[in-house]
This record gives sequence, structure tokens and C-alpha cells, in this order.
Amino acid sequence: MNKAKRKAIIAGNWKMNNTRPEAKALLEAIKPLVANAEGKIEVIACVPFTNLETAVNTTAGSNVKIGAENVHFEEKGAFTGEISAPMLTELGVEYVVIGHSERRQYFGETDETVNKRTLAALKAGLKPIVCVGELLWERECNITEEVIARQIKLDLWSVTAEQVKDVVIAYEPVWAIGTGKVATDEQAQEVCAFIRAQLAKLYGQDVADAVTIQYGGSMNAKNCAGLLAQPDIDGGLIGGASLKAEDFNVIVQAAVNG
Ligand code: 13P
Repeated sequence: MNKAKRKAIIAGNWKMNNTRPEAKALLEAIKPLVANAEGKIEVIACVPFTNLETAVNTTAGSNVKIGAENVHFEEKGAFTGEISAPMLTELGVEYVVIGHSERRQYFGETDETVNKRTLAALKAGLKPIVCVGELLWERECNITEEVIARQIKLDLWSVTAEQVKDVVIAYEPVWAIGTGKVATDEQAQEVCAFIRAQLAKLYGQDVADAVTIQYGGSMNAKNCAGLLAQPDIDGGLIGGASLKAEDFNVIVQAAVNG
């Protein structure tokens, strides 16, 4: 019922894959397949920085939107190797993945930097896809809810109720990413509902009902329908399966029909 209040979003996260010619070919293959999703759900490809300009040009005039995979929190300055939010918006990028568990695990990302990046993205007019999720041992120690509540509070610190409507939350249990171990429909629903309850505490139920919450972690053409049918799962953040146009499209169509 409340699902009608928010937009379903299927986003590919290409991670560190695809050269520019490969990116162009993949997007050319995806575009006609997902054209029927226009006006029904949002379709996004989050691609490496080097592919952004190619991706924006290739998808111009289509219903495929482009996202980056990270963004720095300063607007400019002496931050060798970093990319700012204004640099992304100037390119025509609309979304950005923030706080992916791979960045938290391998690149020292913390809730504090996730929060700073989120605020910087919003200030520049980018829509952040903020990733949260528990480690396997945190789940085994039965502290999933504590971990998620903490991430939501810290990552969204000082984000206003007006701004949070432009934020997408991606629930990605770390143990399910790239492992083929997908969360069950019930496990994913349980945590996505918990995330919405946390948003309701911070912003009120009406605002929480309008926020898109995605599931991510080994979502594929076979398991997507059950996950996307859950009342609090409004889309997916797709890694491996987003690198094949046909597989990605099956997930998009499941969301269109769901
Ligand atoms: P996989 O779909 O490859 O498990 O990756 C999920 C993910 O990390 C999306 O951001």
C-alpha cells in the first residue's frame, strides 16, 4: 500500500569493471530492453569515474540515469585523486553510491565520512544511494539491528527531512555481497522494514514512507522477484548481474511488474 508512495529503483553497481568501449556496448544493449520502464520505475547504472562521460552521452534521451560509485566531500582543493560532487553534476551525473561496504572494508570509509559525502552530494544536487549493512559475525552475534540503527543515525546526521526524500538507502548485508549467498526474502524484508522504522523515528512516518529502500547482495535474475515483492523493498542495487544486459533487464522487468 505504502509502496505507491515511493519510486522503485533498480541500479547497477558496475564496481571496477568495463573500459569505455565496453561501457558503451553494455549501455547500448540495456537501453532498448528497459525502455518500457520509463515512467514506472527508475533505472540507473552506477559506473567507474572513467566511464561517466561515455555513459551520460550513451544514455542521453533514454530512461537510463547515470550514477558514480563514490564522491569526495570537499568541493575542490588539494585532494589528489579525488572527485567532487560539482564535478559529477557538471557531467550530467544524477546519483552517487556512498558508503558501499567495499569502500568501508578496503578504503577506510567510516560513518563519519559517509555522512560528509552524503551532505556534499545533496548540496550539489546529487541523489545519494547510501549503503548500510551488517557483517556476518555481527548477524551471528544478533546485533544486526544495532549496527543498522547506528549506521542510519550517523550516515544521515543533519540531513533534513526535505533532503532525505532525495536519499536512497541500500541495505546490503556484507555477507551476501559477491558471495552468491542471498538474504532470504524474509531476512531482507525484516531489515528493510527496520530501516524504515528508524527513518520514521528520525523524520516521521510520512517521510519514511516516501524513501526508497533497496536490497543489494547477490540479487540476480532468479531470486529478484521474491525480494522485490516484499513490502519494504523498493528496488535493488545489483553488482555482478548488472554486467549482463539480459540479466539486468530481468530484474528491471520484475520491478516493473512488481
Ligand atoms: P553482487 O550483486 O555482485 O553481490 O554485489 C552487490 C553489491 O555490492 C551492489 O552494490
